[in-house]
Amino acid sequence: MIINLFDLEKKFSLKIPKAIDGYYSSGARDEVTLKRNREIFNNYELLPKLLRDVSNISTSTELMGIGIDSPILLAPVAMQQMAHQDGELATAKAAKNFNTIMTHSTISNYGIQDVGPVHDKLFFQLYFSKDRDFTKELILKCKKNNYKAIVFTVDAPRLGTREADERNSFKMPSSLQLGNFIGTKFENFDDIEEYEGSSMAAHSDHLFDPSLTFDVISWIKEISGLPVLVKGILRPDDAQKAISFGADGIIISNHGGRQLDTAVPTLKQIEPIRNQVGKDATLIVDGGVRRGTDVLKCIALGADVVQIGRPLLWGLNYDGQKGVELVLDLLNKELIETMILTGCKDISEISRDLVIEK
Ligand code: FNR
Ligand code: LAC
Repeated sequence: MIINLFDLEKKFSLKIPKAIDGYYSSGARDEVTLKRNREIFNNYELLPKLLRDVSNISTSTELMGIGIDSPILLAPVAMQQMAHQDGELATAKAAKNFNTIMTHSTISNYGIQDVGPVHDKLFFQLYFSKDRDFTKELILKCKKNNYKAIVFTVDAPRLGTREADERNSFKMPSSLQLGNFIGTKFENFDDIEEYEGSSMAAHSDHLFDPSLTFDVISWIKEISGLPVLVKGILRPDDAQKAISFGADGIIISNHGGRQLDTAVPTLKQIEPIRNQVGKDATLIVDGGVRRGTDVLKCIALGADVVQIGRPLLWGLNYDGQKGVELVLDLLNKELIETMILTGCKDISEISRDLVIEK
């Protein structure tokens, strides 16, 4: 019986091949941040408001002028065909049916030209390549395909070491390709020199540009003419700096604990970053969001919306598009329950005083 996201996680780990599970599920090094992202939710307790007529609840909200039915978004997650043959296409269709936003990863199996036509509420996650012309082409392709924003991931000047991938010599199966890199040496992992550990790490070493500085935000904005969200920020001063270089919003993230191990859990940084950037900046948070109460706590502390990473893979693997819809539905129903029990009729009523720190 599937009652919650963890039930899907259990099914996933029983079914998926070991090396792929290692890549999808693990975090960097000792996985301290991966665990802390979850644990931190219990450091915050709810203080419900009662007798507030909660007979009608709405989870609808707006993000940068885009109307969505739920404040739960789908985070960029690489190589989704390893979870299900329909990969990113299924995820995009689920996002469309649920009327929420999906962010499409640079490192995806289906490319911009395939996913773009599926849904009109898509963001594109940009890994900035060492080849700036290639990066520019990617951005222009997004624009042409009607993507609504660029999510610029900045916490990966290199990949954090996931030791499971080293041990398993993780490699994307040769039957798959990276849809945004067709015709380049990054199309699959086969043209990258042999490597005894994680081929993903080797692939990223060749691709990712570690020399980037804040001014590149202005460049992306200029080339794309689209809103830019900077993903991977954990410090209020970095958040402020990103905004001063033209970012429209911040995604507070530690990459699901996959980059710098022992980095601060994200929930803790929402309030300080919101206080720094002010009420108008768009603020998204991800990392360990698995329960309706988690969603409400993130919003109470100052996030506009949250996004989920691994759970979408659990749903995708379970039943393709329907499985991703199931994940969104389970989590949104938990959010509705939490809103009823805390006295919030709509998202705007989720206030800071609903949460106290233990
Ligand atoms: C990711 N994440 C990620 N982020 C990004 O900016 N570009 C990417 O291509 C990927 N790829 C990716 C693959 C896998 C397998 C995972 C688990 C994560 C990070 C993702 O967007 C998000 O920050 C975290 O997944 C959020 O944490 P949870 O919900 O997985 O705990
Ligand atoms: C990852 C990258 C691709 O976390 O973002 O594996």
